[in-house]
Amino acid sequence: MARQFFVGGNFKMNPGSVEQKKNIIDILNQADLDPSTEVVIAPPALYLIPLKGLVRKEIQLAAQNCYFKTSGAFTGEISPTQLVDAGIPYVILGHSERRTLFHETSEFVGNKTKAALDASLKVILCVGETLAEREARKTTEVVNAQLQAVVDILKDTAYWSNIVIAYEPVWAIGTGKVATAVQAQDAHAEIRQFLKTRVSESVAETTRVIYGGSVTAANCKELATQPDVDGFLVGGASLKPEFVNIINAMK
Ligand code: G3H
Repeated sequence: MARQFFVGGNFKMNPGSVEQKKNIIDILNQADLDPSTEVVIAPPALYLIPLKGLVRKEIQLAAQNCYFKTSGAFTGEISPTQLVDAGIPYVILGHSERRTLFHETSEFVGNKTKAALDASLKVILCVGETLAEREARKTTEVVNAQLQAVVDILKDTAYWSNIVIAYEPVWAIGTGKVATAVQAQDAHAEIRQFLKTRVSESVAETTRVIYGGSVTAANCKELATQPDVDGFLVGGASLKPEFVNIINAMK
């Protein structure tokens, strides 16, 4: 079964004003987008609902994070059920900025992934190694450990139909230093092999594995030709008109 190409735009904590966000939305709304690509944008939580009302209906919304509890005294957090209630279908979990800056462990990411899936959210699950880990030839070991924490908590393989895995090498995020097509393909193939061994052959074949880290209009087409690259999670370039070219990488 062919995997549907997936492009996510992670706006992170950008841009500063509703007006700036509206500009991006206007560009997306007016663009000729490849209808065969699934497109998701992840603005800061505060803007999820207004942007949902402004963006064309084929483009879905994702939160950049959520907690694993349904409700309670957890100041500053948003629950999976609240996102579902607001009509938000996706959440990004395990982004390296959350892991590094906010000290999220793989176990914690696993708990949040299960809670999100149980609440009927779809999850963009981020994994990836640092430069030191790559140089120590530990990429596969690190990524597999991040994935294993999720496998350990998801006892039913059916959960995986609602997960998109984003391979994002930390050294490529926001640095302009994109992985080569070969590096991306190798890492994605390893992820697929991991899924085959630890989850199931069918999950390995059907789960989308997307690449993130300095993706631009200039480098997306070559990356997109790799057999195990099923799309992108785009940071900086998702705030620019070239996001349209990235969405249309397979066109
Ligand atoms: O979630 C997106 C990634 O962190 C990639 O960000 O495209 O700015 O390198 P970037």
